[in-house]
Amino acid sequence: MIVTIDGVAASGKSSVSSGVARALGVPYVSSGLLYRAATLLGLEAGLDLHGAAKLLAHLQAHPLRLEPLAGGNRVWQGERELTGGLHSTRVDAGVSVVAALPDVRGWVDAQLRALPAPFVAEGRDMGTTVFPQAQAKFYLTASPRIRAQRRASERPEDVPAIEAALVRRDLLDRVQSAPAPDAVVIDTGPLTLDGVIQTVLAQLPQ
Ligand code: ADP
Ligand code: CDP
Repeated sequence: MIVTIDGVAASGKSSVSSGVARALGVPYVSSGLLYRAATLLGLEAGLDLHGAAKLLAHLQAHPLRLEPLAGGNRVWQGERELTGGLHSTRVDAGVSVVAALPDVRGWVDAQLRALPAPFVAEGRDMGTTVFPQAQAKFYLTASPRIRAQRRASERPEDVPAIEAALVRRDLLDRVQSAPAPDAVVIDTGPLTLDGVIQTVLAQLPQ
């Protein structure tokens, strides 16, 4: 079985996916980490993030590996773990430019489709483009202010600055962020994290 959990930035996708995956005893797959890792490598190499050809050549020369686990995903470049550096403000600011490159999207999609099911996959286009055949699809939303307040514990900036960055990223990501027509939309604003996880679990096919 494949379950997809898509949604806007900081809507709870990875926390909810992890909780659902644990309850099902399967891994979850964080597609955003591959876009973040591609961005980090591009920044480290001093590449123009708009330049698909050089970025893709760099990614092919330095292959990345996503390790999907139920508790949290890790990204490796050979023996080097990149995970800790993927949630910085610098990567947040560049990742949507990289994610708009069709060649990079194809590179990410191929890696995701090679993973063995069952799993819970989270991102923007898991239920639409990458796993349209998924047995259950969800789409998480919440107001920008609530999302910024939640993320404030994970970033050095204040809530208004985080909110502005989230709104900017939502706008840049809007093409790949349309909900699947068959996704269940959940407003996580009034719910606790466990409340969202239970809502998802209650709607899974038996
Ligand atoms: P995303 O993967 O969509 O960016 P995260 O899972 O990283 O979102 O969640 C962002 C933050 O919000 C985390 O600190 C997480 O613990 C918290 N969070 C997620 N869902 C809820 C919720 N329903 N209620 C309160 N906090 C939440
Ligand atoms: O957790 P958060 O929503 O902040 O970010 P993420 O899921 O790690 O995604 C980071 C970025 O990767 C997004 O802002 C998108 O630009 C891109 N992304 C995407 O385009 N498609 C996906 N399936 C997942 C992420």
